[in-house]
Amino acid sequence: MQNYLFFGIIIYMSKDIKIVLTGDRPTGKLHLGHFVGSIQNRIKLQNEADKSYYMIADIQGLTDNASNPQKIRDNVIEVALDNLACGLDPKKTTMFIQSEVPEIAELTVIFLNLVTLARLKRNPTVKDEMKQKGFGEDVPAGFLCYPISQAADILFTKANLIPVGEDQLPVIEQANEIVDSFNRYYGDVFNHIKHLTSNTPRLIGTDGSAKMGKSLNNAIYLSDSLEEISKKVMNMYTDPGHIHVEDPGKIEGNVVFSYLDIFDSNRAEVDELKKQYRKGGLGDVVIKKRLISVLENTIGPIRAKREELSKDKNAIMKILEKGTNEAREKAKETMIEVREALKINYF
Ligand code: TRP
Repeated sequence: MQNYLFFGIIIYMSKDIKIVLTGDRPTGKLHLGHFVGSIQNRIKLQNEADKSYYMIADIQGLTDNASNPQKIRDNVIEVALDNLACGLDPKKTTMFIQSEVPEIAELTVIFLNLVTLARLKRNPTVKDEMKQKGFGEDVPAGFLCYPISQAADILFTKANLIPVGEDQLPVIEQANEIVDSFNRYYGDVFNHIKHLTSNTPRLIGTDGSAKMGKSLNNAIYLSDSLEEISKKVMNMYTDPGHIHVEDPGKIEGNVVFSYLDIFDSNRAEVDELKKQYRKGGLGDVVIKKRLISVLENTIGPIRAKREELSKDKNAIMKILEKGTNEAREKAKETMIEVREALKINYF
């Protein structure tokens, strides 16, 4: 009998415990790229995970906005609203603000010793972003080091599953290297983390460029009005060779069709439209009108819920305060372990 109990406990303990953590930089409102890249996954995972965290990465936002703290401050509430409007549920997900958990900064300083400058400069995500922002050698040190602070964001909660956009994979890889170095020097404190990317292909910008981005001016926001959506879709890049309705048109690189592929659930009709478009005789306005209504089906309910929630911003701040207090307790717990491992637990 005792044996059964013993094995029962072992089996229970070895069941994979799923702790999810994800976050956004509060540098602007969130767009459809965030929605298909990671928000949908976080909403789904909050129902499956044993524990789920969502962090507003204001300190990370400051790494390339040091001179503009007001922008970061203002967008904390905006990204919280975006996530809540999409269905993030504060009863299931602990929502917190990074800067209010100072243990993350403490852990970052400890991790800084485990990563070389050469390694930081090699991170493809950081390299891309540095190029896009035109930093060169004048990159703020905090920006170059944000993957280290992101490892601290994740590891203080002992999270092991991170829903992120594809662009963040090198950051996750670097976090796992930090886990390896930490455990080698100081003993087993942290576990490896896994990423979860969405199976939706990366969303291209409305102008047809590789990525949807706020600074690229090619984004459709989760808070856009129907008029804004219509204007953006009407200006979308299609096929520059498709001048007259009767001309045959190209599907490849055609933004309207790439979006229909992702957001239109009626596959059969989309396939039929593609056939007609290729053959000629189908005008851009027809497919654009269809896309407007498809996008409105997705964004309309989010916009409505967002408007409702934004009437009581105090309530949103209360949610964040409660989540932050809880996250902080967890951070204190982890830091006791970390300080012990590093022999810096003096008093
Ligand atoms: N770097 C992420 C982004 O730009 C935001 C982020 C900060 C994050 N900390 C995180 C994502 C921890 C996942 C886990 O989108």
